[in-house]
Amino acid sequence: MGNRQMSSRWVMALGCALALLSAPAAPAGDAPKGAVVATQAAAREPTPKFDKAFLSDPKNIETGRKVWEMQCRHCHGSKAYPGKAPKLKPGQLEPDFIFDRVTNGFGKMPSWKAVFSYEQRKGVVAYIKSDDFWP
Ligand code: HEC
Repeated sequence: MGNRQMSSRWVMALGCALALLSAPAAPAGDAPKGAVVATQAAAREPTPKFDKAFLSDPKNIETGRKVWEMQCRHCHGSKAYPGKAPKLKPGQLEPDFIFDRVTNGFGKMPSWKAVFSYEQRKGVVAYIKSDDFWP
């Protein structure tokens, strides 16, 4: 009799252990952890204001030129593999639109909010809208 009690306790213990093991681990969410953090960071961002003073400031244009050369030219540049990304037509693009695409991505255009700071993403808008822009 004592033996049988022992074994049923074992079965219970084993059952508990199995239940624990098979409990779903923290949901392997859709977005990677970094993306959640970045979304929160972006949520805290003020809406940028692209006035003439900002867009024409050589400091901002220079910041953006570096971003462009680092991460944009290889897809959008005039020497990029054809079909990789559309050639940008700055005259037809509103600064707010560029900032949104750069920050949030769209289709095959990656989001850069986890890569580039707010200032860098604003800078690349200034660069694309500037006369210095050289794709
Ligand atoms: C991996 C290649 C790739 C890289 C790198 C990339 N883009 Fe793009 N980008 C795309 C593609 C593809 C689209 C078109 C997305 C669509 O409309 O479906 C696009 C669209 C855009 C658009 C919208 C253009 C329009 O006329 O609708 C802007 C603005 C833009 N990218 C800016 C940038 C900037 C600035 C960078 C650097 C921070 C960058 N992209 C880096 C692939 C890339």
